[in-house]
Amino acid sequence: MVDYFRFIGPILGVMEPEAAHGLTLWALKKGLVPSPEPFEDPVLKVRLWGMDFANPVGLAAGFDKNGELAEALLGQGFGFIEVGSVTPRPQPGQSKPRLFRLFSDHALINRMGFNNDGQEVMAEHLGKRQRPGIVGVNLGRNQGSAAPIADFVAGARTLAGVADYLAVNVSSPNTPGLRALQGRDRLSGLLEAVLAARNAAPPPDRPPLLLKIAPDLTEADKKDIAEVAVAAGIDGLIATNTTIGRPTGMTSPSRTQAGGLSGRPLFEPSTGVLADMYRLTQGKLPLIGVGGIETARHAYAKIRAGASLVQLYTALIFHGPGLVNRIKRDLAQLIRADGFGSVAAAVGADHR
Ligand SMILES: Cc1cc2nc3c(=O)[nH]c(=O)nc-3n(C[C@H](O)[C@H](O)[C@H](O)COP(=O)(O)O)c2cc1C
Repeated sequence: MVDYFRFIGPILGVMEPEAAHGLTLWALKKGLVPSPEPFEDPVLKVRLWGMDFANPVGLAAGFDKNGELAEALLGQGFGFIEVGSVTPRPQPGQSKPRLFRLFSDHALINRMGFNNDGQEVMAEHLGKRQRPGIVGVNLGRNQGSAAPIADFVAGARTLAGVADYLAVNVSSPNTPGLRALQGRDRLSGLLEAVLAARNAAPPPDRPPLLLKIAPDLTEADKKDIAEVAVAAGIDGLIATNTTIGRPTGMTSPSRTQAGGLSGRPLFEPSTGVLADMYRLTQGKLPLIGVGGIETARHAYAKIRAGASLVQLYTALIFHGPGLVNRIKRDLAQLIRADGFGSVAAAVGADHR
């Protein structure tokens, strides 16, 4: 297949970053982004939470904030996609500019601040889905909300019926106070409340509930989160969101911008947190590994560190959607080369 991204990529690269993103969403919506030739390999199949994932490579939250492109995105070869973050009420997010490309670092910095059209619109979009495929919904809270836990509860109530999983996002750095919900007591109250809302839905509408965490956590934070997550009985963790840290060695002029850093420099810290969470939960809680995946080797490293599934976002901006199938092909080889018969067999291999 022609790699059209070789032509369109440089054009998107000189556009203002949000304009480039808007154009990409428009092209996806209009069916102008060709679907790759299907690539399936039995070694990539994952069965988790009673669902069958054709492959473990997912699209991370933040790309499709309103769930309007779930079908087009599934057509790009992802094993699953996560839409959102969505908040109860629509909100514009932070003022622009709020998205920066760090070309020499293969990274992005964003301070979008949960720009989205709200839960009702998300529910409407996802309710119209025809194409089979796994779509998780990432829940956020409104900026300045007086009752943040109620925001997440509302999300679970409104969206449990249209989501294949729900992710409680307490880790985006651009909503003041949000990450404080990762603290032991508040997290426990939050998860209990959201689980109760999820469990109140009729059984077919009770999706798995996951928690998405930051990479910027102390050892005590990680221990607390592991204990609270297991005790509460949630179904998994997503590690990690963007970092407020600025790892050494970055060279792009925009590296000093405020916001969450994603892409290549995030790989090491986020994979470290993923491995820590696997160890702290004794491998009992399924983990989704995300942060800095650019090649199959990165994806495989996350699986060996403890991830049952992986996600990516930033590398797509630099390499285009053809990256998804390249990662799948190479990942299947890496898994076989180590003598594993499935993704599941390789999960956590580095800890054994
Ligand atoms: C522009 C942008 C917007 C994002 N928005 C969200 C969001 O709304 N909710 C969320 O949980 N994560 C969000 N993320 C974080 C990603 O889901 C992911 O955790 C992070 O970018 C690390 O993966 P990557 O290095 O492959 O990009 C966003 C990331 C980017 C780059």
